[in-house]
Amino acid sequence: MQWFAQAPANIALIKYMGKKNSSNNTPMNDSLSYTLNKLTSNVALEACPGKRDVWESLDTPGLPPFELSQQAQTRFLAHLAFLKEHFNYKGAFIVRSNNNFPMGSGIASSASSFAALTRCAVRALSELTEEGLPDNDTQAKLSQRGSGSSCRSFYTPWALWTDTGVRAVTTIPYTDLYHQVILVSHEEKSVPSSQAHELVATSPAFEGRQKRAHDNMKSLLIAFEHKNWREAYEICWREFMDMHNMFQTSSPSFDYMNEATNELLIQLQKDWEQYGDGPIVTMDAGPNIHLIYQQSQREIADRFKRDFLIGNYDVL
Ligand code: PMV
Repeated sequence: MQWFAQAPANIALIKYMGKKNSSNNTPMNDSLSYTLNKLTSNVALEACPGKRDVWESLDTPGLPPFELSQQAQTRFLAHLAFLKEHFNYKGAFIVRSNNNFPMGSGIASSASSFAALTRCAVRALSELTEEGLPDNDTQAKLSQRGSGSSCRSFYTPWALWTDTGVRAVTTIPYTDLYHQVILVSHEEKSVPSSQAHELVATSPAFEGRQKRAHDNMKSLLIAFEHKNWREAYEICWREFMDMHNMFQTSSPSFDYMNEATNELLIQLQKDWEQYGDGPIVTMDAGPNIHLIYQQSQREIADRFKRDFLIGNYDVL
């Protein structure tokens, strides 16, 4: 028997960084994300004899086989084991997965891949155990155990995640945004986000982070409701810089920003000053820069791409 599911990635504008409880990924602060419906992970499960689950690449004709490090496979299969335990199911599966965005693109795939695995596994397990299918909220909660940020991928276009749960936000008037990622580096991250969550607690800036994230969240929701795009850009800029400042001041310190990142950030600021308009800019735990435009800003997006990106960086 076989099951299949797909789930999208998401990009946080108010960042989840630091955990209250690392065993169930309870976040230190609330986060807000926009769902990236074009960037997806696919998971197929096949029930098989025996007790041991195995991972394989989900092959798509015409595309090279998908690769996952041994460590990532172990983490993926551990989440499947947790879901099987939840349903009290003892059988084994072949897990096949891939992403529709290129490997090494520096896009965090843990949110989409854990959301897709959870979606697929609850379908399979509820059918095999003849239990009811858990609702979307319950699936999101189960997914959070595997990867915190994956719980936001169950809601679209906006998700708000707090220490008590995650839900869709329906009061934001921007429901169809245009997202680009500038691939500043294709290299594997030197510090994975799981480690970043721990290290930030050593930064002097960690104290007060909850309040700053809370204030940024409040101001951003108001800016969105008032359709104040410039204000939203400024809050989001402050927010990702706050997270990167904690990285840079942790012990030991670490830094995802490189020379190219810094040059591009300066250019984006200059463009905003020159034209009085531009994208919301944000960065995750990596060197790549995410740009979020309104559909009516396509010309601005094309101009920036033509003037600064084409020939220098891949853009997804
Ligand atoms: O879900 P994790 O453990 O991969 O953490 C994600 C953390 C950030 O991407 C840096 C921020 C966020 O809120 O997505």
